[in-house]
Amino acid sequence: MSIKIDKKSGIIILKTKHTMYAMQMLYNKFPVHLYYGKISPKAPLEFHGELRSFSPYYEEYGFNYFPDTAKSEFAFFGNGDFRASALKLRDLTTGSDVTHFTFKNARKFSGRLDLSPLPFADKDDKTETLEITLTDDVTGCILKLYYTLFYETDVISRYFSLQNLGQGDVRIEKCMINCLDIPTQHLDLLRFYGGHVNERMCQRSPITQGNTSFFSRRGTSSHMYNPYFCLCEHKATEEKGNAYGFNLVYSGCFLNELETDQTGCVRVLSGLGSECFNYLLKTNETFISPEAVMTFSDKGVGQVSRNMHSFTRKHILPPTPKNLRPVVLNSWEAFFFDIDTDILTAFAKEAKKVGMDMVVMDDGWFGKRTDDRAGLGDWYANPDRFPNGLKQFVTDIKAEGINFGIWIEPEMVNPDSDLYRKHPDWILHSPNREPLPSRHQFVLDMINPAVVEYLKDSFKKTLGDIPIDYIKWDMNRHLSHAYSPYLPPERQGEVFYRYMLSVYELYDWFKKEFPNVFLENCSGGGGRYDLGMMKYSHQIWTSDNTTPTSRVFIQFGSTFGYPCSTMSCHVANHNHSAEDERLLDFGFRVALNGPLGYEFNILDVTDKAKESISKQIKEYRTYEKLIENGDFYRLLNPFETGGRYSYYFVNEDNSEILLTFLQNDGDKKKTPFKLKISRADKSAVYIDKISGQVFDGTSLKKGIVVNSSDQPHFAKMFYLVKQ
Ligand code: DGJ
Repeated sequence: MSIKIDKKSGIIILKTKHTMYAMQMLYNKFPVHLYYGKISPKAPLEFHGELRSFSPYYEEYGFNYFPDTAKSEFAFFGNGDFRASALKLRDLTTGSDVTHFTFKNARKFSGRLDLSPLPFADKDDKTETLEITLTDDVTGCILKLYYTLFYETDVISRYFSLQNLGQGDVRIEKCMINCLDIPTQHLDLLRFYGGHVNERMCQRSPITQGNTSFFSRRGTSSHMYNPYFCLCEHKATEEKGNAYGFNLVYSGCFLNELETDQTGCVRVLSGLGSECFNYLLKTNETFISPEAVMTFSDKGVGQVSRNMHSFTRKHILPPTPKNLRPVVLNSWEAFFFDIDTDILTAFAKEAKKVGMDMVVMDDGWFGKRTDDRAGLGDWYANPDRFPNGLKQFVTDIKAEGINFGIWIEPEMVNPDSDLYRKHPDWILHSPNREPLPSRHQFVLDMINPAVVEYLKDSFKKTLGDIPIDYIKWDMNRHLSHAYSPYLPPERQGEVFYRYMLSVYELYDWFKKEFPNVFLENCSGGGGRYDLGMMKYSHQIWTSDNTTPTSRVFIQFGSTFGYPCSTMSCHVANHNHSAEDERLLDFGFRVALNGPLGYEFNILDVTDKAKESISKQIKEYRTYEKLIENGDFYRLLNPFETGGRYSYYFVNEDNSEILLTFLQNDGDKKKTPFKLKISRADKSAVYIDKISGQVFDGTSLKKGIVVNSSDQPHFAKMFYLVKQ
């Protein structure tokens, strides 16, 4: 049993395979937090109040419980806890924003709550959920806190429902979901920041006094900050020390907040925040929050990543059609908008010849889309470009023996489109103000059901009877002027949130309408690289930056919160690198961090380059399953080693190991690096299938020494197979 509720003491203990989480319903009233860490008989299971001056208290409980200093399971605004709150509610009858939720009951059940239309993690037979019910007598609201245990992966998820059973309406002014008080401030924060073409840069820094926050106010989880973050002891490494990981199963605006307090604790909050979320909850209505997840390991930051990886693989990602992650050739960097049937047919033929599985027709196939100024919203094939129709074209391509993928960007419209001319009011825009374009496009008011219906109809008409195998769903601007003409004024604070619900609804429709289609999500590269999108998409386009020396950093950062199987890694032809054996090889070795693809004009490269690509694909097939399902260990951090990145994948029984060392710049000193394979079996002998060299497990554990090269773009790999 993973959940134990002791009614007498009010103590509730949750256990996953290696972790334990404890709370107490103090005085049968206040949900206080006791412990989150490794399973240990020494875990402190007794609550001690912290008396501090200027902290309000309840006289009837003596000086043992102070809302301002107690570690809390969920923090409410206005009732004596002055730290950052998880929930702020305003009673619209009186205008008061004080709430005081107290414990009513706790129960557990197997399985979990269905959060649709929000994405949520799938249960398995070990999944169990704790439900804590709290009530606020004045507003009449009932709050149910949920804790779902994903036992094998050491992940605990949290979400809540808030039901207004009072006489008057209330407004949710702040909504956070993960709320954890950690008893020490001696922690480092690892966060993933960046921008377009520079996603998920990794920064590790000690947390400081006060409030640290990072967020998205852009309507998407964004390139600028990823919702995933990690906290760890200062001394923690990839393999040692206490570490925590936090994330949201959500793709819109978010807020992550860390706040240190006077007692030496840090409060960790993640959720929808307040700036981009404000929700009217009328009498008898219920709000259900998105799901937040957390994990803990005493085995370092690397194990926290592996917990998140296996959780995502087992409970988030959809199964891949035909159990295949295709090697893709994408038309974007080859032709940009200049595509037609002849060029794409020739392209597909070459792709097939070199051994690729899928040709993807990117932007430029629909409406009047000959550049980025027109066409979005008009989802019919451009008759000038497809004189015999899309169906005939796709059928011809597939007759070449290759699968076919297509690009779409449903959420957007260009002012120069039939759709916009017909429905100028179908975009997000604020009354009496000019909306601002971004990439010459506006955001559709997805909250308006007519818009979603239009999109469903259009895609059904255009793609419904066409044997497509893959969809790349793009999203190329952020939401400014986030006002929905469809919603009444009092609901405008819900726009960012409701926008996401409609996007998820459309994703869901696509999944049902095209059940065997492989889905790649994209938002100008990796701008929606999150667990919400991973619920619908098999892979995510990591970044529009395909330069291998930049990819080393972007890919490194992406591996912290997400499994490598989701990270589309394409080899591109920058500065004709396909003609330069060394660069082509380096691009390929960098791309072996995730599912392989190509992003260049294969009609324009030498036969020799094509031969190399063919060999690359064959080589990739050898490691494919290991990259998809193997456990992932980071060894060298490119941010700390001047652009050197090393990692390995290992299968479950340690019989196959793929070790990679990558180096961007030349190093005259030829600095040596010891790459330790902690998962090697001590007593086993491994043969490196690339060089033929033999290693015993003990020496692999001690470390293989790899010398840097004096040349830039250097890669060294070992494919170690147990004998
Ligand atoms: C941005 C994407 O990230 C690119 O790969 C490409 O699909 C373009 N959009 C097309 O407009």
